[in-house]
Amino acid sequence: MKVGVFDSGIGGLTVVKSLLENKLFEEIVYFGDTARVPYGIKDKTTIIRYAIEAVEFFKNFELDLIIVACNTVSAHALDEMREVSSCPVIGVVEAGILATSNALKDKNSNILILGTKATINSKAYEIGLKEKGFNNLQAKATGLFVPIVEEEIYSGEILEATFRHYFDALKKPDAIILGCTHFPLISDAIGNYFGKDTILIHSGDAIVEQLELDFKFTAKYETTKLEFFASENPEALKNVAKKWLNI
Ligand code: DGL
Repeated sequence: MKVGVFDSGIGGLTVVKSLLENKLFEEIVYFGDTARVPYGIKDKTTIIRYAIEAVEFFKNFELDLIIVACNTVSAHALDEMREVSSCPVIGVVEAGILATSNALKDKNSNILILGTKATINSKAYEIGLKEKGFNNLQAKATGLFVPIVEEEIYSGEILEATFRHYFDALKKPDAIILGCTHFPLISDAIGNYFGKDTILIHSGDAIVEQLELDFKFTAKYETTKLEFFASENPEALKNVAKKWLNI
């Protein structure tokens, strides 16, 4: 099985990490649009245009599947990508909704959705969760976490101050959707802020759950061939991959 993983930049490597840990693919081709990141502040038309270009890029490889690791793209451009792709395309928003619904037995549970401005404005998570019977929802655009994580700040004063800025007025949630590729890197700090009993939904683990439960992926590959591509400075992306993925 050969999969293409698409993200606006380096953040989608958090999804690759989950795929590698679960040994689901023989080959992973990663493409990060590092020249045009961030997508989270762009409008729908632009996000769709860039996403379609990513599908065109992946046509250079014989892929069995494309995984959209970027929440912003998954929220805005999945249908358009499916229209132009010759292989199936799945995204982290659908997977995150499924994983949240599987994790919460009580439909009254309070769910906090975090993401970029574009993801939150799309209401994609809210619509999907409401269809599953969850109506006790809070959504918050927390785009500042993206540059903070890119600065490799995973704890400490700057992060704490940003938490207070975004979270002080919120109700304590039962579950939090980490609806952005970068947020799993600060999941420990987010968990500490809200309390250890809060369930955290991670896009990478959600995609693995969807592949295993819904798509019945059972094969395990002892080794995975990795290829990394970026629209700007691929060496920088490869260096982050080495660090985040321990390769
Ligand atoms: N990859 C994006 C996401 O998951 C975050 C970075 C960006 O804004 O492009 O929404």
